[in-house]
Amino acid sequence: MLTKDPLWYKNAIFYEAHIRSFCDSNGDGKGDLPGLTSKLDYLQELGVDCIWLLPMFPSPLKDDGYDIADYDNIHPDYGTVEDFRTLVAEAHARGLRVITDLVLNHTSDEHPWFVESRKSKDNPYRDYYVWSDTDQKYKEARIIFVDTEASNWTYDEPSGQYYWHRFYASQPDLNYDNPVVADKMIEILKYWMDMGIDGFRADAVPYLFEREGANCENLPETHAYLKRVRAVLDADYPGTILLGEANQWPWDLRPYFGGDPDDSAVPGDEFHMAFHFPVMPRIFKALKLGDSTDILDIMDRTPSIPDNSQWCVFLRNHDEVTLEMVTEEDRQLMWQLYAPDKRMRLNLGIRRRLAPLLDNDRRKIAVANAILFSLPGAPIIYYGDEIGMGDNIQLFDRNGVRTPMQWTAEPGAGFSEADPADFWAPLIDDDIYGYRQVNVAAQMADPNSLFYTMKHFIATRKTHPILGWGSCDFIRVADKAILTYLRRTNEAQMLIVCNLSDQPQTATIPLPDFVGVTPYDVLSDTSLDSIVQTDYSLSLTPYQYHWLSLFRT
Ligand code: NOJ
Repeated sequence: MLTKDPLWYKNAIFYEAHIRSFCDSNGDGKGDLPGLTSKLDYLQELGVDCIWLLPMFPSPLKDDGYDIADYDNIHPDYGTVEDFRTLVAEAHARGLRVITDLVLNHTSDEHPWFVESRKSKDNPYRDYYVWSDTDQKYKEARIIFVDTEASNWTYDEPSGQYYWHRFYASQPDLNYDNPVVADKMIEILKYWMDMGIDGFRADAVPYLFEREGANCENLPETHAYLKRVRAVLDADYPGTILLGEANQWPWDLRPYFGGDPDDSAVPGDEFHMAFHFPVMPRIFKALKLGDSTDILDIMDRTPSIPDNSQWCVFLRNHDEVTLEMVTEEDRQLMWQLYAPDKRMRLNLGIRRRLAPLLDNDRRKIAVANAILFSLPGAPIIYYGDEIGMGDNIQLFDRNGVRTPMQWTAEPGAGFSEADPADFWAPLIDDDIYGYRQVNVAAQMADPNSLFYTMKHFIATRKTHPILGWGSCDFIRVADKAILTYLRRTNEAQMLIVCNLSDQPQTATIPLPDFVGVTPYDVLSDTSLDSIVQTDYSLSLTPYQYHWLSLFRT
């Protein structure tokens, strides 16, 4: 059964699942909804609270489903609407919530609205999309898919005008200045909410409106529309959430929560949650250089958000490690450090999975997760990262980080009964990350596996709600290899200490309020030396971390 708490998301663990790659129930080599349903026990065992499903709608799949051709149905490869209802019911029966992707900004060029729209200038659907006689409008808007798109405008020969698109040319942007479009998208949202889902991950939200002279991101009109969407959820579907995908700086993200920027007690009235994009590449940089400075700097510049809101933090997802929210110098550095082979790069990012990025070093993977699970925000695990799956940089676009889930060492990896040659994407099959070496069955049989480390982080976090609810004060110490921060509620305090380097370190942490306290590591169930003076001195092995409860008896 689901918890009744309307603020459940404040301390939830999310799991991002790619239906196509999770589990195939009918032997066609493509994952599907019944397959995913059959694996809910596994997710329950891992301990996550909410599953985020990538787009599941009919689509030509030119952007893996983010190009939707029919908002009211399920992609035939994935099953039926009935299968979807079953998934939601079965998930709820296990206490798991389900959110799906809501793609508001654009459709596929195969969506019937666009098929009509491009027929002629006076077609009744013309105004569903953004058309222009010239490709010189909105010049300040950046191009996002820089590797493939030369312009945000594409000329449509038959109807003699350009149409606007922020992503692939096969994804025309909807025209939100048309009130009919704005209303229709809310109807679509209600259609899925009425099936009992727990909310949406709202895709590409900064780009809904266009205005001349602006960069066409985060416009006031966009915020006004999103507030309207939130109001629908609050009125008709209490306890459900909107998780916003806005790849922006923290100060530009703040308005997406709504409320009052100067008073976090005023409830947010836009997104319940938003991804904290900029901290993610900084965690990778910090681990490579053994230097916490950039994490501290970005967290210092992260504004407070309404009490009824939450950040979503992540290490990896189905896209590239985006380097949009770093300086040009840091982007070059990150490419040098993490993507020496050019095939690892895509647009302004790096298309690799967590384990290969961290050299498959269990210590680094663990400390990265120790940070993920203790930073302010709700953590998201990307499917497969809980067992340390690898990637395949030979595959097209971002498919290399979306390969079939590795369940067993059997041929087909327990993903599908089909001939592996017919899988929608090849299994990872190398000596280090191949499914024979890295799979769920083997890890569940091994108490020392990464799976159990992850399960332990999840379980420990859940027994310490301070990590979801507490305030967070970052502490700058002389040794830059140390990342340390204090989480607090009225009842509890927890000090997080991580050694980001491959060398032993001795941290000296000013803890004037805690002299006399004996820190207790809730992850290893051990007491450390008591704090006898203002400066607490703590030795850490390479990449060691502690979650220290500072309980005053
Ligand atoms: C963000 C999604 O995460 C990405 O996969 C997609 O390509 C774009 N939005 C366009 O929908």
